[in-house]
Amino acid sequence: MTERNTTTDQTTTTPTITDAQLPQADRDAEHMQGHWVLARLGKRVLRPGGEKLTKRMLAHAPLAGKRVVEFAPGLGRTTRLILDAAPAGYTGVDRDPQVVDIITPLAKSVGGRCVEADAAHTGLPDGSADVVVGEAMLTMQSERGKRAIIGEAHRLLKPGGLYAIHEMGLAPDDLADTVKDAIRRDLAQTIRVNARPLTAAEWRELLESEGFEVLWTGVEPMALLKPRRNLADEGVLGALRIMRNLLTHPDLRARVLRMRRVFNTHGDQLTGIAFVARRRD
Ligand SMILES: C[S@@+](CC[C@H](N)C(=O)[O-])C[C@H]1O[C@@H](n2cnc3c(N)ncnc32)[C@H](O)[C@@H]1O
Repeated sequence: MTERNTTTDQTTTTPTITDAQLPQADRDAEHMQGHWVLARLGKRVLRPGGEKLTKRMLAHAPLAGKRVVEFAPGLGRTTRLILDAAPAGYTGVDRDPQVVDIITPLAKSVGGRCVEADAAHTGLPDGSADVVVGEAMLTMQSERGKRAIIGEAHRLLKPGGLYAIHEMGLAPDDLADTVKDAIRRDLAQTIRVNARPLTAAEWRELLESEGFEVLWTGVEPMALLKPRRNLADEGVLGALRIMRNLLTHPDLRARVLRMRRVFNTHGDQLTGIAFVARRRD
């Protein structure tokens, strides 16, 4: 676990992130992970069910006066929602040093911090959290990696504490294995991340087998690249900025078009799915 000092001037109300601050800013478009391609274009909400599903999820995980740990805060959009809810404490955990630099000033504005660590091994004390939040970060782990991170959330939470996740889902529950494999292969090729979404039943089983009881589940369409979702998540100015960047960066545009083709091809089977689960013991 590493803590970082940063000089970025950012508060919960003035989120300015420059291109140079973004993770993988030094890579060419072809070799960037899909979510950082989208961030380069101006997207700030990098999760499949959008901010709508995030808000629905957080409505079932009260944060006021709670000690909150956020796994993989990314560009900080959920961080701001968490901080606005007046938690008793905030700790972000991300493995990317540039994310830690972006989140640290936000966290510090409420006396919190952001540490550079793998969410599977945070180095934070047992039972030090009332709520753990993690979005769009389990899907990209192997089965073992997912279990290690869920197990770490369990260790960090006090008994009865809540774990809120928002990930990519597959539907229906009885989707054929051959289709699941094809989707995972297409996602891995285009996003450059080993994305392994699960069905709702598989996510639930995974949480339950790691010591959680599922209290709430929500689903929204997987509309990460749909214009209407972008407008809702990024606002008019944000959506216009993304359009302009798409027009002026053919290399990024080519990546996005390939991702969109895969999302559209498998659109009936992909969802954004969220759970709020309680640590059982
Ligand atoms: C797709 S982005 C999602 C960011 C943000 N949660 C959101 O929904 O907009 C994935 C984030 O997960 C982080 N991440 C991925 N695997 C991680 C791990 N094992 N431990 C900590 N952070 C991780 C990445 O660095 C990145 O910030």
